[in-house]
Amino acid sequence: METTRRKWLTQAGVLFLGAGLAGLRAKASPVIEPVYFLPEPDDGPIRLSSNENPYGPSPMARAAMAESVSISNRYQWQMVRDLISAIAVKNNVANENVLIGAGSTQIIDTVIQLAALQKGNFILAEPTFNRWTSAAERCGIQKMLVQVTEDKRHDLTAMINAIKPDTRMVYICNPNNPTGTICKYDALVAFVKEATKKTLVIVDEAYLDYTNETSLSSLLTENVNLIVVKTFSKIYGLAGARIGYALAHAKTIERLGQLQSGVNVGVSAASLAGAIASLKDTDFVKESYLQNEKTRAYTIQQLERLNIPCIPSYTNFIYFSLQNYTKDFFDQLKRNNIEGTHIYEENGKWSRITVGTMQEMKRLISAIG
Ligand SMILES: Cc1ncc(COP(=O)(O)O)c(C=O)c1O
Repeated sequence: METTRRKWLTQAGVLFLGAGLAGLRAKASPVIEPVYFLPEPDDGPIRLSSNENPYGPSPMARAAMAESVSISNRYQWQMVRDLISAIAVKNNVANENVLIGAGSTQIIDTVIQLAALQKGNFILAEPTFNRWTSAAERCGIQKMLVQVTEDKRHDLTAMINAIKPDTRMVYICNPNNPTGTICKYDALVAFVKEATKKTLVIVDEAYLDYTNETSLSSLLTENVNLIVVKTFSKIYGLAGARIGYALAHAKTIERLGQLQSGVNVGVSAASLAGAIASLKDTDFVKESYLQNEKTRAYTIQQLERLNIPCIPSYTNFIYFSLQNYTKDFFDQLKRNNIEGTHIYEENGKWSRITVGTMQEMKRLISAIG
């Protein structure tokens, strides 16, 4: 069974590559069957550190990106407009509510510039996705951390109470990286309504596609202080293509655009093509979702069997406690060519691992078991 599957996977991979090259030569869109799994070497390195989609980019995105190489000598204004329209349709907003950038990181940088136009502070959870905070501090706004709750959720009450007259921005990562938890929709809506009376609120929905939960994007036409940030790096499998976007009130999108030398120009032709195609490849997104659910459930069950308690996850990663684990977890990973993360919270020795393919997670479990 395993051999047959592997054979099929190999053939599928070869089929895909062949079609991609033929597409390049013929400058015609190749017809490609969906390929969800690519062959993996049995003992190659495994990256479980960056919450990437192990199956992506989608077959349609790969074909479109390959084809776009030949038109990369021209600025692709029409593709920019097409992607903005496709994003607007997907999120049920107008084109004027969308700003695209080279990953959501670039979008967050622009939001930081907007927030830092006046000196003051910004609020975020501890722990949360915080790679951008040094840049924010260098722009002149000070970091204020609000510890997550015992069960690793955003403490929205404490975050509201932390807002001061000179707070310029509150960052909410929903679902949260690294804890994998999600805010209840009604509680988050109430929080946003209250907090945006005083400050900008940025809601980072990088992982929301791994849930059935509702985006906050429906609130933004009535709220100039809400910015929702999304990315193609996760379920769409385009982390290396660098493409993300902001959804906000038209006036806010305009203000963000004024802080960029060229509005919506940060994305290459290949990435634009990949993103447009990805939005059409709904089979790939569904399959990625289902595989992630199945593999995540397996991994959590196995980690708990090894006396490593996990926080229920709404994402493509798992937050777990190494408090009772007796071996050297990180050494076991290193010896087995597996890249994990680090300890995020000393208290409880909490760490995070990305959900890879089933084969990768089986290797992880046998490495630490
Ligand atoms: C919550 C969160 N936001 C944003 C990003 C950055 O994504 P992008 O690749 O779109 O810059 C990440 C990447 O891991 C993330 O975890």
